[in-house]
Amino acid sequence: MKRTQQFALSVAIAALCGTAVAKNSPEDYSNPTWKEKYPEQYASWASTSESTDKGDILADNPNAVILFGGYGFAKDYNKPRGHQFAITDLTRSLRTGGPMDNSQGPMAASCWGCKTPDMIRMYDEVGEATFSDKKWGAWGHEMSNSIGCADCHDAETGKPTPARPFAMRAFVAAGEKFEDQEENIQAAMTCAQCHVEYYFDGTDHKKVKFPWDGGQNPDAMLAYYDALNFKDWTHKISKAPMLKAQHPEWETWKPSVHAEMDVTCIDCHMPEVEANGKTFTRHNVGNAIGNFDVTCSGCHDSKAELIETLHDNKVAVKEAQSAAEAVITKAHFDAGEAWKAGATDAEMKAALYDIRHAQWRWDYAIASHGIHAHNPSLAIEQLELAKKTGEQARAKLKTILAKHGVSKVTYPDYSTKAKAQVLVGLDKAKLDAQKKKFLEERVQKEWPNKVEY
Ligand code: HEC
Ligand code: HEC
Ligand code: HEC
Ligand code: HEC
Repeated sequence: MKRTQQFALSVAIAALCGTAVAKNSPEDYSNPTWKEKYPEQYASWASTSESTDKGDILADNPNAVILFGGYGFAKDYNKPRGHQFAITDLTRSLRTGGPMDNSQGPMAASCWGCKTPDMIRMYDEVGEATFSDKKWGAWGHEMSNSIGCADCHDAETGKPTPARPFAMRAFVAAGEKFEDQEENIQAAMTCAQCHVEYYFDGTDHKKVKFPWDGGQNPDAMLAYYDALNFKDWTHKISKAPMLKAQHPEWETWKPSVHAEMDVTCIDCHMPEVEANGKTFTRHNVGNAIGNFDVTCSGCHDSKAELIETLHDNKVAVKEAQSAAEAVITKAHFDAGEAWKAGATDAEMKAALYDIRHAQWRWDYAIASHGIHAHNPSLAIEQLELAKKTGEQARAKLKTILAKHGVSKVTYPDYSTKAKAQVLVGLDKAKLDAQKKKFLEERVQKEWPNKVEY
């Protein structure tokens, strides 16, 4: 849907900056700078702190620990919550570990990629390459603003504009140059700078890159990664060269019924509302069904029916997800047994590629948390294909196992998160202790965002 008042309002934002010079000033990256001038937008943005539920995906689904064996997501993996928590959750996550000095990993600086406008300030200051060459922990002392105004607004023009240069490059690579888009798509591209599939490009300073050169659908992105021989990690049990799909909200929304009708992320998650006689964009990106009256009711008759549809879609996606992951999890164990029985690299290659491909599709479908609302049919299609590809892997592994004298694989007990973590070689107590030390002795003392254990 398209809005009409944008230009007048844009001029209003431009006044904030008071200069016609192109670059944002360092103060623009600080969220409080915008507060006085835009109280409604600011207050609604700040209220994302009310969405606190983060769940525990691994406890709910211990299969995922096995699937991510050898990778950070087996350590901990939560649901997304309000934008205000982006820095806190990243700093607290076991995935970022406990780097006590600037040279320690495990993560690269590009992990700040979708959390804070302070990263863009540092890009301005030291350059994207110099920033990205360092480790994640090396920049913590600079990161104080959670996802905010300067992430999505050019302070000079006021227009919604993605701040991330890597996103702008990706739009060009995909044939969708930002400057050539309609205004409502440009507005949604502020979401697309983060809510997409990405990787860190080892051939270019570990900068963030979206794998869109050949297209944005799951086949094209998989072909892109295969052609590069790229892997995010080697699986702990199966030794398969794995890919982690991130959160392709943009890519899964694009071929959806809503995209076709010009309904974007902004319409559903950030609608225009009226309060105290003012019309403004409610900036509390979160629960879209709460916007039923302002957005959905234009096309959907009943809120209750829509909630039921969402629920039914969720159940259907979950069923397809469980069916696929049951197969892929077993494939990892089958492969592990095949290695133990003496299988060779050459024998295993095709089966391991099937596992890689199966899990990519599974992850593509479910790493995008709102998929049951955004594009349930795409999710189910990919999950069915994931299951089928996983079955092909298992059939190949059965032959390999038989050749090496194994007629039956016995699967261990991976019914809880704790049991599964032991199976993939994680020492949770050690990781927790490391994190506690890091938060207490480094973050709380030296970093602006005093994250508690
Ligand atoms: C995640 C992206 C995003 C963030 C963060 C964001 N905005 Fe916006 N903002 C938008 C988009 C998109 C629009 C335009 C909506 C449209 O017209 O389609 C907008 C519109 C506006 C407008 C125009 C008037 C209106 O209400 O529509 C103002 C003013 C504004 N934002 C201020 C702010 C301030 C202040 C902050 C920080 C507290 C902020 N924005 C944070 C994306 C964002
Ligand atoms: C700078 C990167 C960035 C931008 C820009 C961004 N997001 Fe997010 N978004 C995130 C991250 C990171 C999280 C998870 C935060 C957490 O859980 O700590 C998140 C969480 C969310 C959630 C879950 C919120 C909840 O309360 O459960 C929704 C919905 C969402 N984003 C929608 C959007 C929409 C719509 C836009 C565009 C208007 C947008 N985001 C722009 C990075 C971004
Ligand atoms: C037609 C409306 C609609 C559009 C368009 C839409 N969303 Fe959503 N989105 C929803 C609904 C509804 C949910 C929540 C489903 C539920 O809770 O059952 C959701 C969920 C999400 C979530 C997960 C929130 C969570 O806490 O799990 C994220 C992230 C998200 N959307 C981001 C986006 C982005 C980014 C776009 C644009 C690329 C987008 N959405 C487009 C309606 C929409
Ligand atoms: C411009 C019209 C329009 C708006 C606005 C709109 N929808 Fe839809 N939506 C459709 C159409 C058309 C369909 C497909 C036919 C159907 O299932 O009713 C659809 C289907 C859906 C589905 C089923 C998805 C699927 O692919 O099976 C969900 C869920 C949904 N909408 C949620 C929402 C939510 C939540 C909002 C508001 C935040 C919203 N829609 C706003 C037009 C719209």
